[in-house]
Amino acid sequence: MQNSDDLMDPAVQECPYGYYARLRAQAPVYRMPNTGFHLVTGFDVAREAIRQPDLFLSGVSPMALADDGIPQEIIDIYTSGGWLPLASCSTSDPPRHTRIRRFLEGLFTAERVRRATPMIDKVAAELIAGFGERTQVAFVQDFAHPLPMYVIADLIGVPRGDIARFKAWSDAIVEPFSLMVTRERRIECAKLVVEMQQYFAEMIAERRREPRDDMLTEAIQHRDTDGSAFDMQELITILTIDLLASGNETTTAAISSGMKLLLEDPAPIAAVRQNPRLLENLAEEILRLESPAQGMFRRCAASARLGDVELAEGELLSIRFGAANRDPGQFPDPDRIDLHRRKPGNHLAFGVGRHVCVGAALARQELISAFRALLDRLDDFRPAPDMPAPRYLPSFFGRNLDELHLCFSHRKV
Ligand code: HEM
Repeated sequence: MQNSDDLMDPAVQECPYGYYARLRAQAPVYRMPNTGFHLVTGFDVAREAIRQPDLFLSGVSPMALADDGIPQEIIDIYTSGGWLPLASCSTSDPPRHTRIRRFLEGLFTAERVRRATPMIDKVAAELIAGFGERTQVAFVQDFAHPLPMYVIADLIGVPRGDIARFKAWSDAIVEPFSLMVTRERRIECAKLVVEMQQYFAEMIAERRREPRDDMLTEAIQHRDTDGSAFDMQELITILTIDLLASGNETTTAAISSGMKLLLEDPAPIAAVRQNPRLLENLAEEILRLESPAQGMFRRCAASARLGDVELAEGELLSIRFGAANRDPGQFPDPDRIDLHRRKPGNHLAFGVGRHVCVGAALARQELISAFRALLDRLDDFRPAPDMPAPRYLPSFFGRNLDELHLCFSHRKV
């Protein structure tokens, strides 16, 4: 691989699929010379790695991988004003992972998502109603971002009126994971996260006094199999990282990318209008083609072989879900939306096995509700003229559009 052909290069991250395709063909388990991480880009090798969670551990703190690790200054900001965040569910291993996951899994069962669906549909409808007579919107800001935020806020029990403050907070949690931020920005982010922690500490105190029917109360009242409750550091981590950060940016990314894909290829719109059952397949194709979590880390617990590569204990893998999901060996004609794939949900956008996304059922429903509402109410989607074209923000982890200026007409309903 040539040096300019580097996944740490923002230009490559803007559209990494050509790079992924070359790697997959030449070296599906490839050691990046500048970082030492192994990029895993083939579907079979990616699945093989995540299916062996005791050999390929999840306990890797992406923030600690920055050149200077986690600076003392940042640790001090947390410990003096708030709580040092614990590892997220996704970046921990048993026994901690088992303890947190046992709680989280119960929150997003198919039955609970079914019960939440009318609320999700209502949020989507209200956001579109909020467009009023307009025929041009900033799609990320006006729709794709608020939708999952309102939904999770409602489920957790955060008042709508407080949500305006969440965008800056949630960016501050997610940005450092991108591995692309400066030290100054990481410090700013830590301060914002502490603000968010303080907000939730107050909410927790309120719910302890007056329990309600919401996830915040459930988290406080939860008892593990040994009878222990979550302590404050655990509660804060679950609320801010496992529920808010893990779910919001990813779902926003999926909705925004989905709209961008339909601007590039509108044929699926007519197909879905003719057969609304295809909406589920459209959601799966969006997740497959523009996987919001492009890559997650794994660390070798012992020496191991993956594909034809020998790995030593401690070596790091970045499993590129975004690459595996366009593997032509698994998905014929992988770069286009195909609403008739044999097993449309058989991609790795939510991972598989021990760490498979706990919020997958919710995220799928959010995508379905979002696109049902959009396609029912609006038409003639096109990029807004004289506005900057949408760009993907540089990130080693996520796939978020900075903005998507969208024009449309209103359908007569
Ligand atoms: C389109 C939206 C979403 C995508 C693409 C996505 C993707 C993923 C992926 C790939 C993983 C597995 C990571 C691994 O194997 O290492 C994961 C785990 C996780 N996701 Fe999601 N996610 C989405 C939405 C959500 C939502 C809505 C929530 C919660 C509200 C959520 C919470 C979590 C949690 C807590 C984990 C950790 C599970 C574990 O490690 O056992 N995600 N997600």
